[in-house]
Amino acid sequence: MTTPESAVYPPSEDIIKNAHIDAAKYDEMYAQSIQNPEKFWAEQAERITWIKPFTKVKDVSYDFGNVNIKWFEDGQLNVAANCIDRHLATRGDQTAIIWEPDDPNEDAKHISYKELHLKTCRMANILESMGVGKGDRVVIYLPMIPEAAYAMLACARIGAIHSIVFAGFSPDALAARVNGCDAKVVITADEAPRGGRKTPLKSNADAALLHCKESVKCLVVRRTGGQTTWIDGRDYDYNEMALEANDYCKPAEMNSEDPLFILYTSGSTGQPKGVVHTTGGYLTYAALTHEVTFDYHDGDIYWCTADVGWVTGHSYIVYGPLANGATTLMFEGVPTYPDAGRFWAVCEKHKVNQFYTAPTAIRALMGQGTEFVEKYDLSDLKVLGTVGEPINPEAWNWYNDVVGKGKCPIVDTWWQTETGGHLMTPLPGAHATKPGAAMKPFFGIEPVVLDPQSGAEIEGNGVEGVLCIKDSWPGQMRTVWGDHERFEKTYFSDYKGYYFTGDGCRRDEGGDYWITGRVDDVINVSGHRMGTAEVESALVAHAAVAEAAVVGYPHEIKGQGIYCYVTLMNDREPSDELMKELRQWVRTEIGPIASPDVIQWAPGLPKTRSGKIMRRILRKIAENDFGSLGDTSTLADPSVVDDLITNRASKG
Ligand code: WT7
Repeated sequence: MTTPESAVYPPSEDIIKNAHIDAAKYDEMYAQSIQNPEKFWAEQAERITWIKPFTKVKDVSYDFGNVNIKWFEDGQLNVAANCIDRHLATRGDQTAIIWEPDDPNEDAKHISYKELHLKTCRMANILESMGVGKGDRVVIYLPMIPEAAYAMLACARIGAIHSIVFAGFSPDALAARVNGCDAKVVITADEAPRGGRKTPLKSNADAALLHCKESVKCLVVRRTGGQTTWIDGRDYDYNEMALEANDYCKPAEMNSEDPLFILYTSGSTGQPKGVVHTTGGYLTYAALTHEVTFDYHDGDIYWCTADVGWVTGHSYIVYGPLANGATTLMFEGVPTYPDAGRFWAVCEKHKVNQFYTAPTAIRALMGQGTEFVEKYDLSDLKVLGTVGEPINPEAWNWYNDVVGKGKCPIVDTWWQTETGGHLMTPLPGAHATKPGAAMKPFFGIEPVVLDPQSGAEIEGNGVEGVLCIKDSWPGQMRTVWGDHERFEKTYFSDYKGYYFTGDGCRRDEGGDYWITGRVDDVINVSGHRMGTAEVESALVAHAAVAEAAVVGYPHEIKGQGIYCYVTLMNDREPSDELMKELRQWVRTEIGPIASPDVIQWAPGLPKTRSGKIMRRILRKIAENDFGSLGDTSTLADPSVVDDLITNRASKG
């Protein structure tokens, strides 16, 4: 089932009629947003309840050396009050969060806005009693349980800055993040059930905290009731404290530009960076994009399958939907447990209207056959979304035909941790879709295609280059935590005057956008972003490894797999055991998501005479594309390439 690139799927009359935004409205709003961004965003920010209204909309400079991004800067608001309190009068009894547990035999929970208020206030009071105040950092290392949302909102309520660490990260990765933002408290749970197995989160946290300041406290949520070690004075029992905690906590008055959260993400060099998002602009953007992209209507049941450990979970499970008074579904499990029909079972059970997932999940389920989908009644579905990586036309078609029965527009949302919300996506009632295309810029977004060498804007259609964005939007990241210089260097130095996305893109003959993948040393494994440099530094930290080079290669399910070239110390011999050990080593250093797919022993790496590893060549070898290695004459020792080709590892 392949689609010609020209395949175009216009929205049906029915969808257009019921949508918030049709084609004419999009054109009108888009034009306004570009011609007069101040007016446009001032109006959009009215969807937020401000404690003190802003008078200044935008203060932005993209000048390298002086990058400054501020939105609504003299306004004051509280994010938790926007996501909860202001809905209480009209929808106190409406379900805010549907929680679906890992085990389908365990009961789902329906948490009303009233209950969300109560639980968030209690959590906020617990944090305050542990000494957390405005501006303090709190690391959240939790499974996908309602307490994760309470914890985020509790931080927002008291003005603390949360930094969520995905529960799949290792103790070392957790420690690095706790130390990186100098957190006062880590919130974790005893164990995280996932796919029928349990991850010992508390014992991971124990191991991490050995490498952190002694003053860091640990708040422990009981999820499974599993045994944990306990350090009196350091560890706090959430479930017990919640029984005593006060039911009300006053929302703090926050400035629009106060940080709301830090989220660590991988870059092409060095250690992960702490992406900082602030308050007023972020919430405005998350809420608007949630409503418009998914065409969310009051009363709809909306489900994003991401984990709150990623930005998708921040903007599109918690902040965007709750700011809109939506019912948002939170799923603890995995798509294939107890079988490959789980997503569709949950859609049927909770009558899901908008469903948002990642291409890697679609590809994995597609391989299991259509019978897992056809068993279930999916007639409530209206809009399908994808995010995280380019979606191949086969997966797009399967999603469209088998899941959506050809009736549900697919919104292929392109964005990044840095952007806070969607930057490009078709809108359900306004745009035709094309399998694999992100199609159209969101309001206020001016994409430009640049020549990678000259940095000049490439005008017209049918062109390809690097993707940059002109000017700012309210959801944009403001800085790298503790390192504004790195922020400027990463995003504003290569192409002066633009925000550089790190992605390549094509604007087709019809003027629609296609993301072609990263142009830097970031790889995308199952929608998880990974710096090849991180995996390399994990590998060389092993005593047997002299040198390592890591590249991505096409992987049928994961999108990209992790391919490692490893040069051993002189006194070490390659062996299957050592290969296993290195794989385990990387899992321990970073987490299972960084587990190498392929390790190839490399007696030497292709380097220029100045010692720079030529990754282009390594990528080609990993891709099995030996015909186009390009010029190898500048290599210090061209013969290493022949050796790498001859011994190219067979992919598992
Ligand atoms: C990178 C950002 C945005 C939340 C999840 C990932 C790739 C993301 C798409 C898409 C093609 C996509 C880009 C981007 N990406 N969405 N719809 N089509 N590529 O966030 O971890 O910050 O990764 O993911 O390469 O730069 P992230």
